[in-house]
Amino acid sequence: MSTLLPPGVHAPGDPAVPASARRRARHRPPLTRAGIFGVGAALPDGVVTNRDLERALETTDDWIVRRTGIRERRRLAEGELLAPLATEACRRALADAGRTAGEVDQVLVSTVTPDRVTPGLAPDVALRLGAPQASAVDVNAACAGFVYALDHAAALVESGRAEVVLVCGAEALSRITDHDERSTAVLFGDGAGAVVLAADDGLRVGCGSFVLGADGASADLLYADLDERKLRMQGQEVYRHAVRRMVESTSEALARSGMTAAEIDLFVAHQANRRIIHAAAAELGLDPARVVVNVDRVANTSSASIPLALAQAQEDGVLRPGATVALAAFGAGFVWGAGVVGFKERPHAGD
Ligand code: UT7
Repeated sequence: MSTLLPPGVHAPGDPAVPASARRRARHRPPLTRAGIFGVGAALPDGVVTNRDLERALETTDDWIVRRTGIRERRRLAEGELLAPLATEACRRALADAGRTAGEVDQVLVSTVTPDRVTPGLAPDVALRLGAPQASAVDVNAACAGFVYALDHAAALVESGRAEVVLVCGAEALSRITDHDERSTAVLFGDGAGAVVLAADDGLRVGCGSFVLGADGASADLLYADLDERKLRMQGQEVYRHAVRRMVESTSEALARSGMTAAEIDLFVAHQANRRIIHAAAAELGLDPARVVVNVDRVANTSSASIPLALAQAQEDGVLRPGATVALAAFGAGFVWGAGVVGFKERPHAGD
């Protein structure tokens, strides 16, 4: 293919172009940066504890806590919609950022469990928020969906196509959980979290150093198919890949941002399993004090888990304005991603 191009010009992916050069070409520093200026979360009222599950399944609180760190999860009631929960998370994120729904250019909702096959959740969330001017779209990248959506949102802001983007992860995994199968029934929960991303020229870290990946060959290790609509997983295999991919992508995101692990204030990874999170953190050289874990309270909420963990960390006083945060996620696909982001680097975007 490159023979059709002028001498010295190579097609994308041409092996004549060294990988490092290709990467540099694809990552020009943006003129405007995107920053996270607010975070919000919303959980359903229904709580399902490990003790509740002991009564329904051949499992124990001790097994679940030891193998996963999970103590309880939230569940939407039968027939309850996810869109109001996602909208509440977005409202709280906007309030936290001191912004209004009328300022939002796009609503990006990451979900694998929308209220209908189509339309997606995002248009409904925009409507409920009172943001008729906003474009709205769903992203499906399983448990890595929030990181993917954040990268897309940052690209919109950095390119000048948008000023303010709401990025929400909202999941009702109870809808696609086999509640009779103990190896997965104990793992999943419902919830929604959101962040406000906005343009600002004065940010140091911003939201630009994302590394995303995909490997469709591993789809059969974690999936829910159209007929059955239940999550099926080969847990140990997924565990192994999750640690490896999150470590690799976080290391690369750190390198891309020109930082070392020592400069990271907090590590907020997808909350699938406490052991996975701590194993990845240890490999990255991050001590447990800098690792956010809330899987004990909400279980695995797929793409809602990172914004839920960010909101929890802020509420606990662990995530403070000006923090540099490493995000990492892994999920069905396989898909994975990591990024280094600045949290509330300035009190208000554009100040
Ligand atoms: O969100 C997307 C990414 N997802 C993940 O990253 C999840 C990755 N995987 C994991 O987190 C872990 O593999 C699990 C938590 C799913 C399972 O933990 P494990 O330590 O890998 O357990 P295992 O699957 O190897 O099962 C160990 C034993 C088995 O019994 P035997 O064969 O040793 O007699 C299971 O049958 O534990 C048994 N077991 C249970 N026992 C009590 C499986 N589920 C349960 C249960 N209660 N709920």
